[in-house]
Amino acid sequence: MIDDRVRVGLLGCGTVGAALVTLVGEQAESVAQRTGARLEITRIAVRDPGKERGAQIPKDLLTGDAAGVVGAADVDVVVELMGGIDPARKLLLGALEAGKPVVTANKELLAAHGGELLAAADRAGVEVEMEAAVAGAIPLVRPLRASLVGERIERIMGIVNGTTNYVLCRMTDDGMAYADALAEAQALGFAEANPAADVEGHDAAAKAAILAGLAFGCDVSADDVYREGITALRPVDVDFARRMGYAVKLLAVCERAAPDGAQRGGDGRARDGGPVISVRVHPAMVPLAHPLAAVRGAHNAVFVEGAASGELMFYGLGAGGRPTASAVLGDLVAAARSVLARRHATDGDGGAPVRAGLAGTHAGRPRARIRPMGELQTQYYLNIDVTDRPGVLASVAEVFGTHQVSIRSMEQDGPQGGVAHLIFLTHTAREDGVQATIEGLSHLDVVQHVGAMVRVAGGEDLP
Ligand SMILES: NC(=O)c1ccc[n+]([C@@H]2O[C@H](COP(=O)([O-])OP(=O)(O)OC[C@H]3O[C@@H](n4cnc5c(N)ncnc54)[C@H](OP(=O)(O)O)[C@@H]3O)[C@@H](O)[C@H]2O)c1
Repeated sequence: MIDDRVRVGLLGCGTVGAALVTLVGEQAESVAQRTGARLEITRIAVRDPGKERGAQIPKDLLTGDAAGVVGAADVDVVVELMGGIDPARKLLLGALEAGKPVVTANKELLAAHGGELLAAADRAGVEVEMEAAVAGAIPLVRPLRASLVGERIERIMGIVNGTTNYVLCRMTDDGMAYADALAEAQALGFAEANPAADVEGHDAAAKAAILAGLAFGCDVSADDVYREGITALRPVDVDFARRMGYAVKLLAVCERAAPDGAQRGGDGRARDGGPVISVRVHPAMVPLAHPLAAVRGAHNAVFVEGAASGELMFYGLGAGGRPTASAVLGDLVAAARSVLARRHATDGDGGAPVRAGLAGTHAGRPRARIRPMGELQTQYYLNIDVTDRPGVLASVAEVFGTHQVSIRSMEQDGPQGGVAHLIFLTHTAREDGVQATIEGLSHLDVVQHVGAMVRVAGGEDLP
């Protein structure tokens, strides 16, 4: 009789870890009935085992010895919910080397060392499950790794950070200033006391790196991702966008790009076989009719565009203890099934262990080739404050023309107190030309302030 218990070592028992303990308690019976795997949390590593925790956390399972949990004979699967790079990286490599599948929600670690972890998993013939690392409860990683593994993914575009989406919604809907909207998000618990990882785009960049790696079958790190946050946006920017028929959203975009800098198309591959891609996180103007413009508050939404599948949309809660734990539990069940499959193969008939689940799908991933941001072509929104005097418009327009950036429309607010506020929307232009225009404008003596530049989502396709 083969033992159907799958023993779980949990590293970290904070917001997500504690929710997972509760969820396993609620769902273990149903999971056992449906899958044949009886989940049992046998050890929990935390930083401070003496800390007061809810009644649902069995105190006798707590330990400060995380390495001991990984190596324990009564741990079959390691679930890492502690966050950060170290010691999480070493612990997970240790688990994989010991032939134990791992489950992690740690986007920071995966974006920095995902290739190393996946290679170690391939060597050991076990899995690294990571559904919760991107977009919380929303099933997105597994569809990319399994359902869509035969699909040629052309583009992924979405809202993957709820904090910034909440702030931008408040600025758009209620005209709030950025600082006030952020303070409200912090008061409501949507934003950390130190919000830098969210508002400067680091969190979204880590998720974009993970998604790009999965979608294009290559190694992408957070350093490969072009990143801009939302801190430079002012109410005037979101207000103008709305009047023009757009919502401003912080978007993560991963797309194939031809090596010559064309937007997409061709075979999108460099000569060494690694795909050439563009991976970026920045505020973007999304047409109000697009479903992404309607994503409210702390929700996430991601569009996946496949050559055969067309557009697929994934939507739901992108963070929070229970939603994230739901994704972790799904991964844990997948890992548990593979543990049982191996047990059946070795204990049952004495044959070689089977390679179950998603193992073996990552060996030899090439490094991604990243298209320089300067080669991006889209439409751009720009605003500047200028001294109100004759000839200003001509000198401003000359800077645009010098860098081959054609102006589609211009609006003027003011003048007030001798200062006029000019808002430009360009035709499709190259990013390096727009950046040179901004640089040129900042050197004009009539320009008092160069405000935010916002790219138009889908602007490459517009006339
Ligand atoms: N919160 C979310 O909504 C969310 C959503 C998606 C993904 N994630 C990811 O999930 C992971 C966990 O997030 P969280 O919000 O649950 O974090 P958290 O509330 O800060 O909890 C972290 C847990 O890890 C433990 N820990 C930290 N360093 C440790 C160490 N060196 N040794 C042993 N234990 C250690 C802490 O112990 P103590 O309790 O003793 O301090 C705590 O129990 C992160 O990778 C995060 O990015 C979170």
